Amino acid sequence: MKAISQEGNHLIWKNQSDPVLKEDEVIINIKASAVNRADLLQRSGNYPIPEGASPILGLECAGEIEEIGDKVISDFRKGDQVCALLAGGGYAERVSVPAGQVVKIPKGFSFEQAAALPEVYATAYFNLYMEANLAEGETALIHAGASGVGTAAIQICKVKGNPCFVTAGNKEKISRCIELGAEGGTVRTEENFVQAVNEWTNNNGVDVILDPVGANYLDDNLNSLSLEGRLVMIGLMGGAETSINLALMLMKRLRIIGSTLRNQPISTKTRIMYILGEYLWPFLESGDIKPIIDTIITIEEAEKAHELIASNKTFGKVVLKVN
Ligand SMILES: NC(=O)c1ccc[n+]([C@@H]2O[C@H](COP(=O)([O-])OP(=O)(O)OC[C@H]3O[C@@H](n4cnc5c(N)ncnc54)[C@H](OP(=O)(O)O)[C@@H]3O)[C@@H](O)[C@H]2O)c1
Repeated sequence: MKAISQEGNHLIWKNQSDPVLKEDEVIINIKASAVNRADLLQRSGNYPIPEGASPILGLECAGEIEEIGDKVISDFRKGDQVCALLAGGGYAERVSVPAGQVVKIPKGFSFEQAAALPEVYATAYFNLYMEANLAEGETALIHAGASGVGTAAIQICKVKGNPCFVTAGNKEKISRCIELGAEGGTVRTEENFVQAVNEWTNNNGVDVILDPVGANYLDDNLNSLSLEGRLVMIGLMGGAETSINLALMLMKRLRIIGSTLRNQPISTKTRIMYILGEYLWPFLESGDIKPIIDTIITIEEAEKAHELIASNKTFGKVVLKVN
């Protein structure tokens, strides 16, 4: 098969070995994949590949089932149109993936639209509702609201009835986040978000924060949380080390949760993907949730796709078309 090979700083589409099917896996003939910020980190050597995962970039894909392992218990048939959450291997023509991490694509969706779903919807749903236990009516602050994960999180909050507030890099992105369902937002480079959150919540603070920024937001995040608020940290775009006001944590009875989807056990990923297929896909099929795609380009242009993501100018996903 062909797949992306990392050669120096270049991403080259070239012949590589086919994946080997394990008995609890299916092989997908990939029609589209998508870029995640973690791919850029992995490419620069700053994201160790989990043990046993493919060294090929790519955390999600959509395509057709080509082979089914002997011990797969499901109603999958060869030719089914599916999308999948991967531990790696998405920038390729074929991938072998545990069957539990595969779901049929929402009805009426193209492969390009479906490839934009698994990683960001799994991340947003898992962290808001399973890790931080965002409950009915509770409020959320979503940092990087215009990111792939952010645009998914806003829309899930909307259909679940959780009011949310966002931060993003410019006013246009904030307006687009509001169109998706956010109640308000603030430009991260122009305003300190603590004050904006306090105004939005009548000084109560938010119940949950979804934070991919880390160190340089920690203090402001703690100050933005309500009593018994939860901060779920999913990324470190603003650094990994800082100091912490433990008194604030104690007095407000706060929780900080660190979370990575990629190295979760297959059983957890299976549960998340099942929930997406059963619970969220109907909202996608009805149009209440939309796949937010900034750009679709060919997999041969993966380097350009990474440059787009690194520019911080995208709104939603960059999708890679295969074949
Ligand atoms: N833990 C997990 O399991 C998991 C899974 C998936 C993703 N993630 C993390 O979630 C984040 C979003 O991923 P994605 O692929 O959806 O990203 P993305 O689409 O590439 O969007 C990231 C956005 O973050 C903002 N940003 C960049 N640098 C920043 C900084 N230093 N401080 C604050 N904001 C910054 C930029 O938007 P603005 O300029 O508009 O703010 C940028 O467009 C990443 O940090 C990723 O590593 C974690």
